[in-house]
Amino acid sequence: MNATGNDVLRAEARAALESAARASLRAPSVFNTQPWKWHITAETLDLFADPARRLGVTDAEGRLLLLSCGGALHHARVTLAAQGRSAEVVRLPDERRPDLLARIRVTGTAPLDPHAVSLAAAISRRRTDRRAFGERRVPRATLARLGRLVEAEGAHLHEVPDERVPELAVAVDQAADVEYFDPAFRSELTRWTHRPAWTGDGVPPSTAVAPGLRRVPVRNFLPSGSPGLLAGAGEDEGATYAILFGNGDRPVDLLRGGEGMSALLLGATTEGVAAAPISEAVEVAWPRQLLRRLVPGDGEPYLIVRLGYAASGEPPPLSPRREPHDIIVIDE
Ligand SMILES: Cc1cc2nc3c(=O)[nH]c(=O)nc-3n(C[C@H](O)[C@H](O)[C@H](O)COP(=O)(O)O)c2cc1C
Repeated sequence: MNATGNDVLRAEARAALESAARASLRAPSVFNTQPWKWHITAETLDLFADPARRLGVTDAEGRLLLLSCGGALHHARVTLAAQGRSAEVVRLPDERRPDLLARIRVTGTAPLDPHAVSLAAAISRRRTDRRAFGERRVPRATLARLGRLVEAEGAHLHEVPDERVPELAVAVDQAADVEYFDPAFRSELTRWTHRPAWTGDGVPPSTAVAPGLRRVPVRNFLPSGSPGLLAGAGEDEGATYAILFGNGDRPVDLLRGGEGMSALLLGATTEGVAAAPISEAVEVAWPRQLLRRLVPGDGEPYLIVRLGYAASGEPPPLSPRREPHDIIVIDE
């Protein structure tokens, strides 16, 4: 191929990388901190953690930051696959730069993967639904498909059996209590729930629900008591509580866990299932021990996800996002 042909291919690959980085900005993140940055070079798309956006109190160990970044990585990978691009991904490629979480390189074209196309199409529709779910249960076959999506990312999903949901509720409730009585936590929560609109981050009251009767408590993102989103009629009677877990808690495990989380949440969106992460019980050490008892074997719990159907057919409001130029750096 002549120089011009190569130039065209390079420009196309770069455009694909840029669109993948842009699509990833809608990934879910703890407190909607969006703790990542992208760097596009001539041939690669590098994902960096943004340590300045780590929640110093809620996420002292940076576990939720890595899960969130893994979600952004999965969003980017799915976007490339949906455009018929094959890509090589190296996770944690340079041990001297621990914030460099992944390097993506487009290696060529690939037949369109319909599965990736539907997950990519779900990116703009997915949102965390904190409203109460009703009695309708998520069918077994759907849960099995969601479990396979998570497995394909190297993580696992465990449905908590109904009789053990009270144990889960205790773990979440105890963790939420520890946090509630910690002034440093409360001020971090207040900071991320009272962001000026221009920041494009944080959890706005329009997406939060007031505390109410639930099988497992839902985080109170309304510390100032503003009315928020109506929880709706249900009390989570038919909700499924699933624990996303993996084999360890090294950065690469958590990054992969985040990719599994994204696969689960996008997959749930394609299936018409509402979903909401719950992470208090992994934020506080001993409730996390309680969670360890709920997952099979020596599994390391990463996140709880509530799955079900809200009474209202309307989706909850979209949460804000930062501007691409604040997050994506492109080498000219
Ligand atoms: C690692 C992680 C932990 C989260 N923990 C909670 C939680 O405990 N409670 C909750 O309501 N939402 C939780 N979320 C959802 C985020 O708050 C949500 O993704 C973010 O506010 C952006 O909103 P969106 O998902 O609707 O785009 C979590 C998300 C991630 C990725």
